[in-house]
Amino acid sequence: MASGKGFNPKVFDKGGVPKRDWNPHQDCSEDGVFHPFDLPFYKFSLENWEEDKKEILDALPKEKLVETEHENIHTDFFDYATKDILPPYADLLMDILSPCMSKVMHREWIGLCAMWYQTEHKYQSHMLHNHGTVGWSSVLYVDYDPKVHTATRFLSPVGVVVGKGGMLDWFQPKVKEGDYIIFPSNIAHEALPNMSDVPRTIISCNFQTTPMFPLKQYSTK
Ligand SMILES: [Fe+2]
Repeated sequence: MASGKGFNPKVFDKGGVPKRDWNPHQDCSEDGVFHPFDLPFYKFSLENWEEDKKEILDALPKEKLVETEHENIHTDFFDYATKDILPPYADLLMDILSPCMSKVMHREWIGLCAMWYQTEHKYQSHMLHNHGTVGWSSVLYVDYDPKVHTATRFLSPVGVVVGKGGMLDWFQPKVKEGDYIIFPSNIAHEALPNMSDVPRTIISCNFQTTPMFPLKQYSTK
């Protein structure tokens, strides 16, 4: 995994709940430094990617250019995610992705919050942002050539604690087409400009893995 100078989240290639093999309250390095908190990222490589890719590309809508205050990008985010509805291809993607999602859930439950596609043509990018506090966010690299494209860049949630400051820490996973990354939704991230003539397409979705109770279950009066 490529990364910045110091932000090295734990990345679990095979999924599963991370297990600690050390005691964060007792163990530390020889110079007295210890890192008590893990930041879990998950990475999966879809096994039937050739077949999955054909189905996904067939299901995606025609590209739509959206211009916002800060950038222009091809996406259907504003057709569905901001209206709290899922796009028509969500069921197909859930058939493909839910086995990966199930690796991070604690119980047999997944709640999908939003799903959208995003395509960057030459010089298009998606500036630094996060997906709020919904729980998990994820990105599937659908049309992606590692030779000319760059992966999502994640910003460390922790800055340098003491000192004079400096460059911020970031983490950029090494990915290929058909790879699927799951990460905590509140981690800031960005899509760097696509400097090639080859479009880069991803599908992103937010989901939760903890069942929620309805706001009110019983009547007391
Ligand atoms: Fe994002």
